Amino acid sequence: MSDSIKIFAPATVANVSCGFDIFGLAVDQPGDEVILRKRNDDQIVITKITGDQGKLTYDSRKNTVTVPIIEFLRTIESNQGFDVELHKQMPLGSGLGSSSASSVAGVFAANQLLGLPLSVSELLPFSMEGERVACGAAHADNVAPALLGGFVVIRSYDPLDFIKINTPRELYVSIVHPDIEVNTKDARHILRQEAGIKIIIAQMGNVAGMIAGLMTSDYELIGRSMVDHLIEPKRAILIPYFNEVKEAALQNGALGASISGAGPSIFAFSKGKEQAEIVGKSMSAVFNKAGIETNLFVSGINQNGPKIID
Ligand code: HSE
Repeated sequence: MSDSIKIFAPATVANVSCGFDIFGLAVDQPGDEVILRKRNDDQIVITKITGDQGKLTYDSRKNTVTVPIIEFLRTIESNQGFDVELHKQMPLGSGLGSSSASSVAGVFAANQLLGLPLSVSELLPFSMEGERVACGAAHADNVAPALLGGFVVIRSYDPLDFIKINTPRELYVSIVHPDIEVNTKDARHILRQEAGIKIIIAQMGNVAGMIAGLMTSDYELIGRSMVDHLIEPKRAILIPYFNEVKEAALQNGALGASISGAGPSIFAFSKGKEQAEIVGKSMSAVFNKAGIETNLFVSGINQNGPKIID
């Protein structure tokens, strides 16, 4: 059995418009890379972090990459220690599930190096602990798709119950990341805590429509279901030019568009890669015209989750 491993775990789009804390999907790029090396003692030591502009802690009890590993080792009663390298390949606080990619890559790597004591699904609760460290809430809509790949529904948190949903072959995601930072903890604080029954009914209709659309490859139904009455109206104010960017996506043929996770990234669904490229460029152009730099990612739905690179 090998003594070291290098793992890639993908970025994710959480909420997917109408599914706050219950929908998430994985994309092919970007993603984080984690290298784990077995030590001769029981210590978990972060030896290197790149791509974070010095923002992340080397304290293994506080970093999202190592907290899940520590919890995992405690659960399987292992004394194995690891040196951990984290290579961030996406911006922090971007709405791309940056902390989740790190959490998933770390615990996935540890499970591999110890000979798969747990199944991949069984790693989910440990990855969620990384989210608790990152934003104070152990939500699973980023970590579940990062770990399992595909589009995942969290039906229940207590007990944890999640379902991977088939997605249409031609469904593509354009994600535009503007060069501004939104803190997930802050973006959760501004949300309304209650909603009236009319809003709940409208939201449930869209949640059900989204799942039906995905499962029957009904692209138009997916688009019609991308209406979020609960979260988007509140969070849109944290993202300059949100309405203009969304409008550009729709004008250029997107099925629908919304905030990716807690933002500031904005995502759109399109049918076909070519269409998704056009949509993504039109979204970026709005930010760029206002002097805000962007990163654009266009991807199908990543069905595999973490990947062993080395
Ligand atoms: N569902 C979470 C939120 C995802 O929107 O706050 C953010 O990481």
